[in-house]
Amino acid sequence: MNTEINANTHSNAETLPFHKNFDFSGKLAFVAGGTSGINLGIAQALAEAGANIVVAGRNPDRARQAQEQLREAANSSVQAFSCDVRDFNAVHSLMGNITEQLGAIDFVISGAAGNFLSPAVGLSANAFKTVIDIDLIGTFNVFRASYEFLRLGESSLIAITAPQAEVPMQNQAHACAAKAGVNMLTQCLAMEWGEAGVRVNAISPGFVEGTLGASKIAPSGDQGKAFTQSIALKRLAKSREIAEMACFLCSPAAAYITGSIFRVDGGVTLGDASQSCLQPLKRSEG
Ligand code: COA
Repeated sequence: MNTEINANTHSNAETLPFHKNFDFSGKLAFVAGGTSGINLGIAQALAEAGANIVVAGRNPDRARQAQEQLREAANSSVQAFSCDVRDFNAVHSLMGNITEQLGAIDFVISGAAGNFLSPAVGLSANAFKTVIDIDLIGTFNVFRASYEFLRLGESSLIAITAPQAEVPMQNQAHACAAKAGVNMLTQCLAMEWGEAGVRVNAISPGFVEGTLGASKIAPSGDQGKAFTQSIALKRLAKSREIAEMACFLCSPAAAYITGSIFRVDGGVTLGDASQSCLQPLKRSEG
């Protein structure tokens, strides 16, 4: 179903009035994992900007709730489906069905993820494989399945990665390995698909308030307070802040951006900002 390739990806970016960059009327976004959390926030922001939305998640009840919530927020078309990103054929067939009705896909967000805290010796082979399957293979499945349904020439693909991709963390060997793979996959696809006008980028959100990910991974109580102080910006992210980066990456304002990993993490990846062992000397001591 690929439409004609326009080698000048988003070539009209310079000629659009600034505010028009974020009018997504008539565009179609597919958001994997978009039935909850960060990805639902992205779906909502794209819908508010006028895009037609398809969200897919594993849990059918959550899919129904997400559809209701998104329909309240948007005038555009919103559909939600239950679909597991580990099943390539299911993802491919869902995309085939929706593009028959709605036309080519403009934006793909691959955000389905699975995670839990466990030391490596607490992981069975299947536990490690499960997280690789959802995060890394799931991202490949979503992007690869979408390729033949994209509006070539001006499509934007966004993987949701994590600081674990760059920073080794205890009890996160599975997520670190999976997300490091997502970062590399993003860059390889960007190289291969740039010529077809398909931009591929990733957002690394850090810890986001009110999400399952934060509740499972971020410390709570006093440890949580200390953890927040260790973040350069001294707070967790709001879901909306991740969605705004996604909207930017979908817009013609990002027409020349591909293969980039964007940290929207308040500085988490920089390390512990609560203390420094490198104290400046007083002038008299220097
Ligand atoms: N510690 C160690 N191993 C664990 C675990 C934990 N906390 N939770 C699950 N596992 C293991 C299971 O024991 C199983 O291995 P086994 O077959 O050798 O016993 C394997 O992981 C798969 O678990 P299962 O529950 O069958 O997989 P699932 O596909 O139903 O669920 C998960 C996937 C494990 C990632 C689950 O936590 C999940 O679905 N989470 C929801 C999404 C999520 O985590 N979101 C946060 C994003 S940051």
